[in-house]
Amino acid sequence: MLNIDNLEKPAQSSSVRADRLAWGGLTRLILMGLSLGACCWLASAAETKKSEGPPVPKLKKNNLAPLASGEKAVASHAPFEGGDCSICHQSKEVQNPGPLTAPVNEQCLGCHEEFTGIMARKSSHGAAQASCVNCHNPHNAKLPKLLVEEVGTLCLSCHESIKTLVTQSKVKHGAIDTEGKSLNCHNPHAANVEHLLVRLPFDLCINCHGQDGVKDGEGKPLTNFKTLLAENPEHHGPVASKDCSACHNPHGSDHFRLLSLDYPSQFYSPYDPKLYALCFDCHEATMLTTPETATLTQFRDGKRNLHYLHVNKADRGRTCRACHEVHASKQPHQIRDAVPYGSKGWLLKINYSPTPTGGSCAKTCHATRSYNNSAVAEPASKK
Ligand code: HEC
Ligand code: HEC
Ligand code: HEC
Ligand code: HEC
Ligand code: HEC
Ligand code: HEC
Ligand code: HEC
Ligand code: HEC
Repeated sequence: MLNIDNLEKPAQSSSVRADRLAWGGLTRLILMGLSLGACCWLASAAETKKSEGPPVPKLKKNNLAPLASGEKAVASHAPFEGGDCSICHQSKEVQNPGPLTAPVNEQCLGCHEEFTGIMARKSSHGAAQASCVNCHNPHNAKLPKLLVEEVGTLCLSCHESIKTLVTQSKVKHGAIDTEGKSLNCHNPHAANVEHLLVRLPFDLCINCHGQDGVKDGEGKPLTNFKTLLAENPEHHGPVASKDCSACHNPHGSDHFRLLSLDYPSQFYSPYDPKLYALCFDCHEATMLTTPETATLTQFRDGKRNLHYLHVNKADRGRTCRACHEVHASKQPHQIRDAVPYGSKGWLLKINYSPTPTGGSCAKTCHATRSYNNSAVAEPASKK
């Protein structure tokens, strides 16, 4: 989440929409309190903003009878193995053991004492609080750990809105498809991190994305974020707040790179504000709308709006990635060192140098050019 207190407000206009500062933090807090947690909080920004949050999952009824004698059990519960049904039921009679002697969870916790501590953690699962047999067969099962279904299917059988994201999204996330499925990120019973997460959200992402050799669905290598963040000290606001899901939906998304809102996937794009919904969720879209301004952006030469000039074109407008590295950079203003250009992804050096009144770019896309934004501006430049 954005740490509002940490946001440095530049003299004349923060680069972040004022409404987002209050709104973003508040909405997230509310959503977190109300919601299905990770499922909602991590869910597409577009989706969560429109709705009141996903519906509370319905508890379904499992078939909990012991497996029929012909069926092969992979797991068999020790107290059931002994053959004495009266450990839990009122009668020893295998044919008719009768009702239970105590409520389900009371029985389970009576033997699995460590679960009293586990279930007391900060975030506990509604499904487990309701009944342990929502997921476990108390007798035996065709799956390890007495599970009534395979983990992935099990979780999605109750969490319908997550199921839609996971199964219907155009961009799917390897974190969920790989071994372990939901358990890569969630503890099925309870956790000390909100939303049943097994680590802090940022640490979760870095745990998998902090290594070389992770490839996307098309085989293209993905960034090692441990290295990236260590070598590039200028962390973009939400990254500095350790909020990767400010922009990404880890369960799935219809947008490029699991982004929660639209953002062009190419170097060039015809200008359409809708395509930059992701950036404009926090930044003012007006920085791109007028050819001349003395206030709307610092990327201007005098009044000439250089954001407008580069981006706002009917055909080959440059997308933000031409100049900005959205996670972390060495240069101020998230300016990148080099641009990936052409289908082979050549890296062209930008050679950006900031100056007290603007900056310059040397010999890459064009001959060296500089801009001076102090000429007409009232308050001097920021930072
Ligand atoms: C039997 C139905 C059911 C199953 C199966 C189920 N859940 Fe849940 N889950 C719930 C209910 C009910 C809640 C509580 C919703 C509420 O109170 O808003 C919940 C809440 C959650 C939350 C939000 C917790 C929070 O603090 O915000 C997460 C995350 C979650 N489940 C993950 C999982 C995972 C992972 C699995 C599979 C291992 C799973 N669920 C299986 C019913 C289920
Ligand atoms: C570890 C505790 C435990 C033991 C031991 C145990 N049961 Fe159960 N049994 C349960 C629980 C819990 C339920 C679910 C009750 C409920 O849903 O209210 C259950 C339900 C059942 C059901 C109904 C299933 C359904 O879908 O409604 C049958 C049949 C059953 N047990 C048979 C047996 C037999 C036979 C034995 C002895 C060989 C036995 N149980 C031993 C805990 C146990
Ligand atoms: C009479 C004591 C007793 C009760 C009651 C009991 N368990 Fe167990 N349970 C055990 C023992 C003993 C084991 C095997 C040793 C171990 O893994 O701790 C076990 C193992 C398990 C396992 C691991 C199975 C595996 O294959 O690894 C699960 C899951 C489990 N129990 C769930 C439950 C649930 C859910 C309930 C309540 C419906 C319950 N237990 C009630 C004694 C009990
Ligand atoms: C939402 C589904 C869900 C519910 C509800 C649930 N469990 Fe589990 N439980 C799991 C899964 C999934 C595993 C397997 C974890 C793994 O493989 O790491 C598991 C594993 C276990 C184990 C074996 C742990 C081990 O290390 O071998 C025990 C014991 C257990 N659960 C007890 C309980 C008890 C007691 C409750 C009720 C308080 C409960 N479970 C409720 C999903 C659930
Ligand atoms: C359990 C490991 C794991 C965790 C945890 C994890 N990821 Fe991933 N992620 C992967 C793998 C594997 C891929 C590559 C396969 C694919 O394309 O999904 C991937 C791909 C991605 C992609 C590129 C998707 C594409 O196809 O373009 C993004 C973006 C991403 N992850 C973001 C995140 C964020 C943000 C987090 C934390 C909220 C996170 N990941 C946590 C394993 C993980
Ligand atoms: C401000 C929004 C934003 C935040 C916050 C953010 N990302 Fe991204 N992420 C993007 C955008 C935009 C792209 C696509 C970049 C491009 O293609 O130019 C992307 C691409 C990615 C990719 C795939 C491309 C690659 O180089 O590997 C991964 C993986 C990823 N992000 C992980 C993360 C992780 C981990 C975090 C938290 C440390 C994070 N993101 C935080 C916006 C964001
Ligand atoms: C979740 C909110 C959020 C999103 C989404 C977001 N940003 Fe930011 N951005 C911030 C915050 C917070 C800052 C730091 C505040 C500041 O310096 O005024 C920042 C700072 C920046 C800066 C540096 C400003 C400066 O002069 O130092 C640039 C450039 C930037 N963002 C570009 C982008 C681009 C491009 C996108 C879309 C891919 C984007 N942002 C999406 C929140 C966001
Ligand atoms: C041609 C290079 C270039 C492109 C393309 C570009 N920017 Fe910038 N941007 C800059 C430079 C340079 C600055 C730093 C201006 C200064 O403070 O000196 C900047 C500053 C910013 C700031 C800080 C506030 C401001 O306007 O001064 C934000 C936010 C920002 N850019 C967002 C974006 C977004 C969103 C896109 C894509 C829609 C984008 N930029 C495209 C070069 C570019």
